Amino acid sequence: MSRGLFITLEGIEGAGKSSNLSHVQDLLARTGRDVIVTREPGGTALGERIRELLLHSRDVDISADTETLLIFAARADHLQKLVSPALAQGKSVVCDRFTDATFAYQGGGRRVAHKRIATLETWVQGELRPDLTLLFDVAAKIGLERAGNRSSPDRFEREDREFFERVRQAYLEAARREPARIRVIDASANPAEVRSQVDRVMEDFLRGVD
Ligand SMILES: Nc1ncnc2c1ncn2[C@@H]1O[C@H](COP(=O)(O)OP(=O)(O)O)[C@@H](O)[C@H]1O
Ligand SMILES: [Mg+2]
Repeated sequence: MSRGLFITLEGIEGAGKSSNLSHVQDLLARTGRDVIVTREPGGTALGERIRELLLHSRDVDISADTETLLIFAARADHLQKLVSPALAQGKSVVCDRFTDATFAYQGGGRRVAHKRIATLETWVQGELRPDLTLLFDVAAKIGLERAGNRSSPDRFEREDREFFERVRQAYLEAARREPARIRVIDASANPAEVRSQVDRVMEDFLRGVD
């Protein structure tokens, strides 16, 4: 049996990842694939507990290095227990954020050295990389306005606009380095237009693998 497809959705807060997750799932399911949808940090019982620490710790200070290590600890658990077994069984996995987010947030946003993150990436993932990454790209101002409508901001959402502009630029640099894997979606468009861009990228990608 061949390994399932591993597809990740990336972008700053409010870009439209969660809004498009089930659509990507549907497009894959229509090709007859078994599909699992998950998210990072999280996806497992332990991963979700680490997510709680990362997103909602108000009373403790978490340094950039500690944050990066916690994210990779959650990732190791997620890969071992959920993602890798599913892929090995031929199931496809759609994940809301993955390691590109670590390079963008902890690397671009918090200025953790790229090389350190790359070391952890190899340790935790070995050779595993997403087959396709949809990067929902939007200006920080727009993303934050959209996310601002959410009830209470998490630890990241409390960062300022400059932080998210650095995150956005780090994502775009990654897309320039790996244009075949990371496909940029103009997420400033209206929801229907964003969805049709997703359709086009997915069609193109699936043509290449089928
Ligand atoms: N293209 C769009 N135009 C306007 N609003 C959008 C668009 N995409 C998503 N939204 C809205 O913006 C908010 C954040 O979207 P969401 O998909 O949760 O973003 P993310 O998961 O990337 O943080 C939601 O209220 C959603 O309905
Ligand atoms: Mg989301």
